[in-house]
Amino acid sequence: MKTFEIKTTFTVYESEAELSEEDQKLLKMARNAASRAYAVYSQFHVGAALLLDNGEILTGNNQENCAYPSGLCAERTTAFYASSRFPGVPFKKLVITAVNPQSTLTTPVPPCGACRQVLSEYEQRGGHPITVLMAGQEGEIWQVNSVQDLLPLTFSDSYLPDMTI
Ligand code: THU
Repeated sequence: MKTFEIKTTFTVYESEAELSEEDQKLLKMARNAASRAYAVYSQFHVGAALLLDNGEILTGNNQENCAYPSGLCAERTTAFYASSRFPGVPFKKLVITAVNPQSTLTTPVPPCGACRQVLSEYEQRGGHPITVLMAGQEGEIWQVNSVQDLLPLTFSDSYLPDMTI
C-alpha cells in the first residue's frame, strides 16, 4: 500500500487594489454580471468574467429555476456562452465573485465541483492552464494558476471509449 499527497498552490491578494489593471477590470465586469443574476430562489448572486485567448471578454451569472436543479451556476453559464460564441478559442482567465444580500462576503467564492469539472475540460481542450481568480464582496482575492489546482484527480475524456473507429 502507498499513500500519496497532493499539494495545491494559490496566491492571496490582500485586496482588489493589489490586482493588475486587467484583473481589476475583469473583477468589475464580474461584479456587474453578478448584479444581473437571476437568483430569486437563493438570493445568492454570482458573476463571472472570462477572458479568452483572442482578447474577447464574456460575462455571465447564475440562472435559477423553480425546479431547482434546472438552474445553472455563473461559471458554467459563462463558459458555455463563451464556447458557443467562440468555439475552440482557449480560455485564459476567469474571475468569479458573488453577493450575499444578508451578510457581506469577506472571503472569496470558489467554484462548485461541477463547475470545476467543466472548466477542467475547457482547460484541457485549450492546451494551457486557465488562471482563476476568486473574490468576495470585499477582502482577499485568491488566485490559482490552473483549474488543476482546484480539481486534482480529474475525470477526463481519456477514460472514455475511443470512438475513432
Ligand atoms: N452558484 C454559482 O453560480 N456558482 C458556484 O460556484 C456556486 C453556486 C449559484 C448556484 C445557485 O444559483 C446559487 O449560487 C446558490 O447555490
